[in-house]
Amino acid sequence: MRARILGTGSYLPEGYLTNDDLAQWLDTSDTWIRERTGIRERHITKTGTVEMAVKAAEAALANAGVTSEEIDLILVGTMTPDYFCPSVSCQVQAELGMEHAVCMDIGAACSGFLFALATAQAYLTSGMARTALVIGSETLSKVVDWSDRGTCVLFGDGAGAAVVGIDEKGVLAIDMGSKGSKGMALPCPGIPLQNPLQDASEEGSQKSYIQMDGQEIFKFAIRTVPETVRRSLQAAGVCVGDVSHFFFHQANRRILETVAKNLRIPLEKVPMNIERTGNTAAASIPLLLDEWNRKGSLVRGEKLVLSGFGAGLSWGSIVMEW
Ligand code: ACO
Repeated sequence: MRARILGTGSYLPEGYLTNDDLAQWLDTSDTWIRERTGIRERHITKTGTVEMAVKAAEAALANAGVTSEEIDLILVGTMTPDYFCPSVSCQVQAELGMEHAVCMDIGAACSGFLFALATAQAYLTSGMARTALVIGSETLSKVVDWSDRGTCVLFGDGAGAAVVGIDEKGVLAIDMGSKGSKGMALPCPGIPLQNPLQDASEEGSQKSYIQMDGQEIFKFAIRTVPETVRRSLQAAGVCVGDVSHFFFHQANRRILETVAKNLRIPLEKVPMNIERTGNTAAASIPLLLDEWNRKGSLVRGEKLVLSGFGAGLSWGSIVMEW
């Protein structure tokens, strides 16, 4: 038996900022941002990660025809929880009344949804759960320095979700990896140390903002993503040409075009919405998947590849039958 996506949902906040809006206070331009990243605008929440996750989850449950009571596992990929505790997954549980569910958040940044879906596959196929709600939800707008043109133009807020059950068709193969030794190419510091054993002079004042070696991350992505996709396809016994769509983490249009070229995938098979969303980290893959599902662009049984990559560093690919 395999884990299979039964339905999807997503949520983008109403508020948004265009490149021209950013150019009002940053030394940047719509042309620079679009040419380097493919991004035109990004949505920004006024509420937070939990509320977006709940809205995406409600839509996914309705799409799957599954009730809240049937969910026994909630996994949320996020690097921007509203609270350190309770977890986003526990808060979603409380909002939606999923009393029988075990809840946990997965911290793998832009690979978060991919890692959460892989965890659901492990729980479901081992019999530890029957029906999972897998969510990616991010409020990246609170961890970017809005005066740093090198990072703030890239990111946006949003959430996507999938209801995952057990079926004969579904996940065929998974490849995942992490490289902590390169983690400082894309850090976002937490709360600085502050305790009675420290001298006042030692107290940190660093803000929790995403910092990034953009070129290092670019090189990492275009090298690692084709490798993980090839490994997962090989493990599934599936050729590149047999796959209908490749749902990549929406980090940067140029990265996705380079990866597609390397894998010899026509761009029609590489859905993108980064122009309207920016990089929404763990939310990007389920958001995109839901858009394609809702417009009827996915056919049950066809083969898909999902691939995420980002901070950690971390990466992964899942080959599945839709
Ligand atoms: N507007 C105008 N100029 C800018 C901007 C901006 N928004 N940002 C940077 N610049 C300037 C720089 O200051 C630099 O100026 P200088 O030459 O006078 O010093 C110049 O543009 C070139 O800067 P680079 O950093 O070399 O620009 P690059 O071509 O590498 O593009 C970018 C930067 C878009 C960030 C690119 O490196 C990239 O896409 N990297 C991957 C980033 C990414 O995808 N991160 C997320 C993945 S992981 C995750 O999802 C969390």
